[in-house]
Amino acid sequence: MSLNIAILVSGRGSNLSAILDAVKAGRLDAKVQAIVSNKGGVPALDVARKFGLEAKVIPSVGLSRDDHEKLVCNFLKDFEIDYLVLAGYMRILSPYLLRKYQDERGFYRVVNIHPSLLPAFPGKDAYEEAFQYGVKLSGVTIHLVDEDVDHGPILAQESFPRLPGDTIEEFKGRGLAIEHVLYPQVLQQLVEQKKHQYASVRGKR
Ligand code: GAR
Repeated sequence: MSLNIAILVSGRGSNLSAILDAVKAGRLDAKVQAIVSNKGGVPALDVARKFGLEAKVIPSVGLSRDDHEKLVCNFLKDFEIDYLVLAGYMRILSPYLLRKYQDERGFYRVVNIHPSLLPAFPGKDAYEEAFQYGVKLSGVTIHLVDEDVDHGPILAQESFPRLPGDTIEEFKGRGLAIEHVLYPQVLQQLVEQKKHQYASVRGKR
């Protein structure tokens, strides 16, 4: 039993690539139902193509958040989706979209990766902010999304050190390497959870 996912991107697409690699290699039992970018002309679109997939571009520029999300929801409604996977999707999701993916416990079936040990350094430049702050230890967080920015129940965290003499690029590179391993692993845990839930529902019949 696979996990049906839609992946939302905005830019470089290195996490998208890591997820698609893991699916291809059989390390992640997921069906990528859709890939959506809120920006055209970004490298993530080429990443999708490299894997034989076409990302849907739904530009957000010039639209209100609500208007843009109506378009996104309208596109996604035709797919069966267990989880929305945010992979460098630099948008704050509205309750309108989140509620479409609410589970029976009230959590949203939306996962995000963030390059810091949340709750430290939320926002869009977490590596830079942590580095400038002078942290000795930073990390990567994968969490379920709620209505706040880079916030919600934590699924996994992994730390990494800032080594003496690190440049920002070395520091980021160490974090990104963790992101690319951890995200597919956590998604695979959601696959196991889905299988478990399915088995327990069947067992009750
Ligand atoms: C990644 O470092 C991801 O953790 C971060 O954006 C980058 C996207 O890179 N996400 C956030 O900062 C979310 N607040 P990618 O497009 O190469 O995956």
